[in-house]
Amino acid sequence: MEHEIGQPHSQAMTAEAAVRIETRHGEGHTYDQDGLRSVHNHEFMDDPSFRKAYERGVRATGRDYEWHWRVHVGLWVATCASRLPGDFVECGVNRGFLSSAIMDYLEWDSLGKQFYLLDTFKGMDERFISAEDKAAGAVEKNRNNLASGFYTSRSDEVRANFSRVEESFRDRRSNSGNLAASPRPEDILSASRYELFDARSGSR
Ligand SMILES: C[S@@+](CC[C@H](N)C(=O)[O-])C[C@H]1O[C@@H](n2cnc3c(N)ncnc32)[C@H](O)[C@@H]1O
Repeated sequence: MEHEIGQPHSQAMTAEAAVRIETRHGEGHTYDQDGLRSVHNHEFMDDPSFRKAYERGVRATGRDYEWHWRVHVGLWVATCASRLPGDFVECGVNRGFLSSAIMDYLEWDSLGKQFYLLDTFKGMDERFISAEDKAAGAVEKNRNNLASGFYTSRSDEVRANFSRVEESFRDRRSNSGNLAASPRPEDILSASRYELFDARSGSR
């Protein structure tokens, strides 16, 4: 008898079997996260590049939002957009889950594009919430997200996350053997093609 995810594993189960079950996301297995339930194929969750990018997003936020399918769609769109001329902009970065995952997935440094990362770092500006959205509870939701800390006001922490992206590129470069072990400052700058804007102050 096969175990479902979440059931206690028997002691007899091998590590190999456990891995096989954890990575079983094909047709017939039910995806049920983030308000989306589907029996359709979601083997993208087993793709090593997806997993690595998703884990980078988790590191940006410090928690797993359990929104794999949304991130999968985001990475697909970003991949399509990466083939077009122009830069990227994300309006509403928060802690940078999706943008970190995109940077990791696309090996951002290799594209030669700039990623403009914008956030108010104080949630939605209530002056611009429509009457319809207000009636649907958008103001309360916005305030709750700020009060709970789900929307961060710490742009310095978000900036530090993207500095870690920069460091990981630097590490990869220094481990590749093609570049000096101690990269020159210009190498580091060329590996950090992004700007974070704090819409409250307009500061970068
Ligand atoms: C749902 S979160 C975004 C999640 C984020 N993309 C991620 O990957 O985790 C929405 C964010 O939009 C920001 N925001 C709301 N109104 C904004 C505006 N007018 N301009 C910029 N950011 C805004 C909020 O502060 C909040 O951080």
